[in-house]
Amino acid sequence: MMIRAYSGPHIGSTEFFRNRALLQTVHDCIDRLGPTPPRVLIHAASIGAEAYSYVIERANRRPEAAEGCDATDISPDFHKAAGQAVYPVAVCRGMRSEEARYFEPAGKGQVRVAEAIRRRVRLLPPASYVEFETAERYDVVFLLNSLLYVDAAAQRRTLDRVARYNTRLLITTGFHPETIKTDLSENGYRPITTNLEAIHEGWTERRALRPGVTKPGVTCCSPYLPPFSPIADHEFKFGAIFSKDDCSTG
Ligand SMILES: C[S@@+](CC[C@H](N)C(=O)[O-])C[C@H]1O[C@@H](n2cnc3c(N)ncnc32)[C@H](O)[C@@H]1O
Repeated sequence: MMIRAYSGPHIGSTEFFRNRALLQTVHDCIDRLGPTPPRVLIHAASIGAEAYSYVIERANRRPEAAEGCDATDISPDFHKAAGQAVYPVAVCRGMRSEEARYFEPAGKGQVRVAEAIRRRVRLLPPASYVEFETAERYDVVFLLNSLLYVDAAAQRRTLDRVARYNTRLLITTGFHPETIKTDLSENGYRPITTNLEAIHEGWTERRALRPGVTKPGVTCCSPYLPPFSPIADHEFKFGAIFSKDDCSTG
């Protein structure tokens, strides 16, 4: 179930386990990074569903490892909601039992993410990914469904910056299709094409939109996704998993 969150100019539409093909492929890549828990940062994490989904999947794959992640968003309101981790009970509809078991009744038709999962998400102060700086090195950085809120120059500045603190995998949906290949490849990223079409079609809500829908003053591109086809540079325009090394095989 999509959760529609709004705060001033910020649109935080999000969902637990939003794109199953993407999650399975990303977590398979992360499993191959090795036994050491990866350092993970989730930008544009909205009200937390993406970060908690990440940690729940890690907990199910490697129960012994206590893997976590850092997460942030530009909106202080979304950041606060992510910390509360309370959602309508309907978010659990369609979840697998091994996922739903991490949600506890919170009264008034709501559920709360279990403490064992909440404590594995470290919420960093609200921040824009365009200006974000850190002394940490993150094996994996997520920046999903958000670069449409910045212009092409800011997308480039963001990806230049991310490349400084991201060492292995970047999970991102590029916008500004005329520059996304250059923005990524000049920063040393190459697409991982495993399940490319399934991942593209897995953005079901964006695939169902009408072409050209934009919000003046809020979005710089449309969130609409055309049907998958092998157009020029489709691995960059439609892909979501980019690697600085070869973790696509094995
Ligand atoms: C459509 S939601 C996507 C949420 C989540 N990543 C997902 O894929 O379900 C877009 C999010 O990007 C955030 N955002 C927009 N501009 C941002 C910026 N410059 N820096 C950080 N977050 C930003 C919004 O506050 C919102 O939470």
